[in-house]
Amino acid sequence: MSQPLINAESAAAEIAKRSGVPAHDVALVMGSGWVSATDALGTPKFECDAHELPGFLAPAVEGHSGKVRSYEIIENGKTVRVLVFLGRTHLYEGKGMEPVVHGVRTAVKAGCKVVVLTNACGGINTNYKVGQPVLIRDHISLTAASPLEGANFVDLTDLYSKRIRAIVKGEDESLAEGVYVHWRGPTYETPAEILMMRGMGADLVGMSTVPEAIAAHALGAEVLGISLVTNAAAGVTGEKLNHEEVIAAGKAAADRMGKLLKNVIPKLV
Ligand code: HPA
Repeated sequence: MSQPLINAESAAAEIAKRSGVPAHDVALVMGSGWVSATDALGTPKFECDAHELPGFLAPAVEGHSGKVRSYEIIENGKTVRVLVFLGRTHLYEGKGMEPVVHGVRTAVKAGCKVVVLTNACGGINTNYKVGQPVLIRDHISLTAASPLEGANFVDLTDLYSKRIRAIVKGEDESLAEGVYVHWRGPTYETPAEILMMRGMGADLVGMSTVPEAIAAHALGAEVLGISLVTNAAAGVTGEKLNHEEVIAAGKAAADRMGKLLKNVIPKLV
């Protein structure tokens, strides 16, 4: 096994030991502004600071609190163990790719068969409104960075699982689906870059999710990606972009997002 996977196994073993939960079923990565959506999941059975676990870095961005929690959702007599990451590491932090995908690799090693990735994003598609959740149907990577190395020719035709998207749409048929562009950041895009992305067929743009989706899928997990449109992308309205606006839009939508996650998660495994 490669060193990154050995590190993920140690972190998973530490989570099992400290939480008393031998295996989890679903992982949930909460992006910018999504943290308060976890209130809908109830009281966690376990919580620790992510950086106490092997391989996790301290968080760099305000609004990303860097915690790992274990929740139990019981529905119709079925117990689903959910491993929640509050905050994530981004490529723009300059720490390389391994810490960016360490959380999802840890989750898969902890038993998770489904990985739910949430994020805040800019809306390129002008039909989208601020505060609207959008299911990720596919992605375009503009970072030229992959979490995989070597002759590892992984198929990505069903990266954002069609099966899972159908289940989520069964819960809320008004949900839109879109193509997410991964932009390295930390600058937001220029208006010209947004025009280029729209021409490529993109609907959403953000600075996360894509490496984690690839790393989780390569280990055999099914992936669900949900973006919350926190602002119109650069140049769409002429307004300037700022991080406070992104966090505030996340908080405003937290209730709806939390309920959606709580209802959908038990149906995924
Ligand atoms: N661009 C990139 N990342 C983002 C944006 C955006 O407009 N909004 C929230 N994250």
